[in-house]
Amino acid sequence: MSRRHRALLGWAVVVAAGVASLMAQLGRPAVAQTEQLTSAERTRAGIIYASQCATCHGAEGTGGVTPAGDPVPALAGNPDVTVPYVDLVMRVGRMPPAGDPYDNRSREVLLDAEQRRLVTAYVAEEFDLGGSVPTVGEGNPVTGREVFAANCAQCHGSSGAGGVAGAGAWTPPVVNKDPVTIAEAIRVGPFQMPGFNNQQITDAEIADIAAFLEVVSEEAGTPAGLVELNPVYASGFAALFVGIVVISLFIIAGRPKWFPDPSGQPTGRGLSRRQRKARAEQEPAA
Ligand code: HEC
Ligand code: HEC
Repeated sequence: MSRRHRALLGWAVVVAAGVASLMAQLGRPAVAQTEQLTSAERTRAGIIYASQCATCHGAEGTGGVTPAGDPVPALAGNPDVTVPYVDLVMRVGRMPPAGDPYDNRSREVLLDAEQRRLVTAYVAEEFDLGGSVPTVGEGNPVTGREVFAANCAQCHGSSGAGGVAGAGAWTPPVVNKDPVTIAEAIRVGPFQMPGFNNQQITDAEIADIAAFLEVVSEEAGTPAGLVELNPVYASGFAALFVGIVVISLFIIAGRPKWFPDPSGQPTGRGLSRRQRKARAEQEPAA
């Protein structure tokens, strides 16, 4: 290795280390600024809250009863209710409920991102809520897989497909969810789900879980659907595929028609019946 090459290698190591530490920094959810609404936005947000939430939670957020007469928790003065919780319930379509507000299987998202932003900021201001919507950076899917297996799989299934009766409740799928939704759910612990604090799951591990679930979601979209299989089967299929390719190459290599005899004398092997007949007619003496 020349001196110049060694110097280049040295610089590559330094740059790689810099990028790695930057990625680690990005891996921590940063605290986003609590949003300030303009007066026009505030008016629009108030209208959405009144029509989509106040019917059950009350104009002052004090809770009460649903139109069907079932109890509704307060949003104001409720220590469980924070900015990420309010944002989360709208992201996943849990609120406003498309059907029975107690039935967590109905997850039709009724508000778009802009409406959600307005309602979250409005409710935060009106009811003086703490917390903020997190941002999540890059994580490591390999670590994420382990953290998920240890903390989440018992309720959401090993590949996050949901539906498992965890703690006696139906659980939603957690694949195809954006990292913010995952981060919010882990910290908040919505409804029957337990929340996890920073000692139990660190911010960097949240990014890792999100990276793992993203990989699972992407793979679930492949036509072969190999992820639905357990990874052992999936690698079995990969080995089978490689085997087929190798065998095909042997067969191809064994066909003299495609690899003419270097002596230049056509052997006649590998020719079709019609080609052989044509040749026989050309050289009747042979
Ligand atoms: C049809 C009535 C209804 C409407 C409309 C509704 N909610 Fe709810 N909400 C409920 C009920 C009932 C619960 C409790 C459900 C449970 O415990 O399973 C609840 C729970 C919540 C919780 C969790 C509270 C806690 O203590 O765990 C939040 C946050 C919430 N709603 C926010 C909203 C927001 C924001 C809107 C408007 C976008 C909204 N809800 C619209 C009935 C409603
Ligand atoms: C004891 C069972 C349990 C455990 C453990 C658990 N969850 Fe949940 N999780 C639930 C239930 C139940 C819900 C649905 C709550 C509701 O809306 O009624 C939920 C909701 C969620 C949601 C929101 C999805 C949606 O559509 O509403 C996400 C994301 C999520 N969990 C991720 C996780 C992750 C990541 C972990 C591990 C760190 C985890 N959960 C651990 C039971 C669990």
